[in-house]
Amino acid sequence: MSKHTIILGIESSCDDTSAAIIKEGKVLSNIIASQHIHTLYGGVVPELASRAHQQNIIPVVDQAIKKAGILKSEISAVAFTRGPGLMGSLLVGTSFAKAFSMGLKIPLIEVNHMQGHILAHFIDDSDVKIAKPKFPFLCLTVSGGHTQIVLVKDFFNMAVIGETIDDAAGEAFDKAAKMMGLPYPGGPLIDTYAKEGNPNAFRFSKPKIQDLNFSFSGLKTGFMNFITNETAKNPHFIETHKADICASIQRTIIDVLMDKLKKAAIETNINQIAIAGGVSANSELRSTLEQLKQELNWQVYIPKFEYCTDNAAMIAITGYYKFLKNDFTNQGIAPLPKYLLAIN
Ligand code: KG4
Ligand code: ZN
Repeated sequence: MSKHTIILGIESSCDDTSAAIIKEGKVLSNIIASQHIHTLYGGVVPELASRAHQQNIIPVVDQAIKKAGILKSEISAVAFTRGPGLMGSLLVGTSFAKAFSMGLKIPLIEVNHMQGHILAHFIDDSDVKIAKPKFPFLCLTVSGGHTQIVLVKDFFNMAVIGETIDDAAGEAFDKAAKMMGLPYPGGPLIDTYAKEGNPNAFRFSKPKIQDLNFSFSGLKTGFMNFITNETAKNPHFIETHKADICASIQRTIIDVLMDKLKKAAIETNINQIAIAGGVSANSELRSTLEQLKQELNWQVYIPKFEYCTDNAAMIAITGYYKFLKNDFTNQGIAPLPKYLLAIN
């Protein structure tokens, strides 16, 4: 074994199979195999996802080790996503990690996927030096399955202070895109088309939820009614107004997210603001945060694009910090599809 701490991270919670190598907190490789088969079905099909993970896992790990330029025997521990996620998908990564740990006689580390998204901010990358948030900070984690505001006091002390009571922000993007006839996942496409559109062209009513929680299901229904009514009047409405529709729905989703984030910053008196999860790749969300940075005197932290969407580097970095405190698990471990983020 190397005298350095080298962690192999494995991520298989949804529809991306990923493996990464992190050496002393620095990423050496981060290989992601995305499953395109789901586009045909307009969403992730769990059964197909598990099968694709089963096919991808060995080649992806092999590539991660080769690209990192290390030997398998130098790996100090293997970290894997235990949850939250799809059971069949999680089982592939969990079983692989257990076997790898047993075969190489190295420790096994279980990781909460949501904690991984947050700790992605601590990945050292040789390409770009990005400032790391200082504790305590607020993290808005926005993905296809989750929307949370997390008060991060430490690497392992995190509290969810607000979350969605129905759909996630990524789901709101994807479902709006689907209603417009765009392929899955539609979030990145809305982002692209919105660049040419007017965000004030159409108005959608925002949810009226107390406290720091979110809701996107009302917006989804409102959007569906809007599309149905407009296309009844003009069958070419979507085609001819695509950019304006995308810019307007994107603006509304971002406003909903920002209203709660501002409220959380005031209530906690914290101005260290981070974002994480697939939706943090959204260009308008990123520029809105840059603007708020000036207006509200926030310190804003945005991960490099490849660490926003699902990836194993975020699992490996979390594994690295767990390794430093000897936080290992055993062969009896099973996936937790509803693994809550409540670490104290
Ligand atoms: O974190 P992630 O890769 O997987 C989950 O854990 O869910 O997030 C995927 C979500 C999808 O809903 C996708 O549409 C959304 O992130 N997403 C975006 C963008 N890139 C990915 N949404 C809006 N704009 C983007 N540029
Ligand atoms: Zn995720």
